[in-house]
Amino acid sequence: MLKIDHVSMVFGGLTANNDVCAEVHKGEIFGLIGPNGAGKTTLFNVISGFYKPTAGKVIFNGEEIQGKLSNQIAQKGIARTYQNINLFKKMTVLENVLVGCHTQTRANIFDAIFNTKRSRAEHEEAIRRCREVLEFMGIGHLEDSLAGSLPYGDQRRLEIARALVSNPKLLLLDEPAAGMNLTEKDILTDTILKIRDLGYTVLIVEHNMKLVMKVCDRICVLNHGNKLAEGTPEEIQNNPDVIKAYLGGAK
Ligand SMILES: Nc1ncnc2c1ncn2[C@@H]1O[C@H](COP(=O)(O)OP(=O)(O)OP(=O)(O)O)[C@@H](O)[C@H]1O
Ligand SMILES: [Mg+2]
Repeated sequence: MLKIDHVSMVFGGLTANNDVCAEVHKGEIFGLIGPNGAGKTTLFNVISGFYKPTAGKVIFNGEEIQGKLSNQIAQKGIARTYQNINLFKKMTVLENVLVGCHTQTRANIFDAIFNTKRSRAEHEEAIRRCREVLEFMGIGHLEDSLAGSLPYGDQRRLEIARALVSNPKLLLLDEPAAGMNLTEKDILTDTILKIRDLGYTVLIVEHNMKLVMKVCDRICVLNHGNKLAEGTPEEIQNNPDVIKAYLGGAK
């Protein structure tokens, strides 16, 4: 589904991604791990169109998407969450998720201005779908709360809801468990597996190894911008280079 083909991203003199290659297959949970500053978020930003890579290609369902605008890439079916939560804090939970529906709607400016039957029907359908996704993420009861007033864990769940509601072909999650307590992390682990079981393909960046090892089908390890290893969770856990670079020598 997604091919990262010799991607490099250089900022001034700093190489954040160096000739990285990886493939994400349809229906799997693919993990991207590595120490702080390894280049994980940069690669997400390249895939989702925030950065144009210095070199290399990103191929999504057979089509080159590197350098396209992020809204064009969203339209093609890639949705993401952000390491630094990126919600509309003064809007309600439901309104935030409605924003995520917008790549799906077909009503035009005429429909919007004159509040046509098509516009009303689409809006009602969008609200129904948002509520369904909020329930799925376990925050349905919070739909009228302001996003900025939610505890951290609920804000992270809301970000996932906003990404999911667009029915993406590929879901990118950047540190979804950051700031969550242990119970929340366990619930999130189950939720990510359920998302995969619904047929979504997931690319996840996460530091929490318990979660990563439980949910991922395959894992790619980055270190200082370079790809260090790729394999199943078991292979990665037993890879001496990974242990040295990522776990500081202790298994
Ligand atoms: N826009 C930018 N301009 C300059 N340097 C950048 C930019 N974005 C990222 N970098 C640098 O690129 C390197 C990789 O950063 P990146 O955020 O991709 O790492 P990461 O693997 O996501 O780390 P973390 O686990 O801490 O989130 C870092 O040295 C960072 O300072
Ligand atoms: Mg990051």
